[in-house]
Amino acid sequence: MNTTSAPATRYHGLWVAAHWLTGILIGISLYGGMAVLRHIDNLDPEKATMIRAHAIGGFVILVLLLLRLAMRATTRKPPPADTGSGAQKLARRVVHVGLYLVAIAMVSTGVGTLAAAGAFPAVFEGTGALPASFWDYPPRQGHMFFSRVLLLLVAVHVGAALWHQFVRRDGLLRRMWFGPR
Ligand code: HEM
Ligand code: HEM
Repeated sequence: MNTTSAPATRYHGLWVAAHWLTGILIGISLYGGMAVLRHIDNLDPEKATMIRAHAIGGFVILVLLLLRLAMRATTRKPPPADTGSGAQKLARRVVHVGLYLVAIAMVSTGVGTLAAAGAFPAVFEGTGALPASFWDYPPRQGHMFFSRVLLLLVAVHVGAALWHQFVRRDGLLRRMWFGPR
């Protein structure tokens, strides 16, 4: 059984799997929301089905995030990737905590949008109609705002990972991959 005391050379395999699956699902949700959902009229008969798929993806993301938080508390993890810079240490913390908080805010405002619009039956039971527009409900504005913050955080996070891997060459990516720890 792992303890939280001794550092590991890699994250736990289940944590790694959850990290990459969250990454893929967040990518699909951001693209699906911005490039597809947003542009489809609520009168389109396919819209409710699309929102259902988008919402289920969001619930899976939430479960994976909670799993990662549980693993953070119960498994050994590598020591922070220290570059000796206080500013980078702070940036890492802000971005990692921010990714969790903003992803959770996305799920909350998504649920809030459907709840405020009374659209759960239309989306999950196929009864009733969608509202003319979700923009009439305040959580929709929050969903849009947090999606852009999430996009920014993901861009900074991916940029930092690539910088570590290819400029600093400290092999950071292998910590978030499968193998002996
Ligand atoms: C292609 C995209 C991604 C790459 C290349 C990437 C890369 C990495 C790497 C290398 C680490 C380990 C950092 C370390 O050891 O200090 C890490 C950790 C982390 N990543 Fe990503 N990541 C990606 C996508 C995402 C996304 C979309 C999220 C959003 C939730 C995310 C959230 C995190 C968090 C919070 C950590 C800290 C460890 C944890 O709590 O799980 N990553 N990432
Ligand atoms: C991390 C999870 C999620 C992400 C990344 C995400 C992302 C997005 C994005 C980027 C948009 C378009 C925003 C815009 O450009 O205006 C959107 C729209 C939407 N999302 Fe999500 N979403 C997530 C979870 C959810 C959940 C759990 C629900 C419902 C339970 C939901 C319901 C909606 C709805 C109703 C819309 C509006 C569609 C419209 O206005 O036509 N989302 N989402």
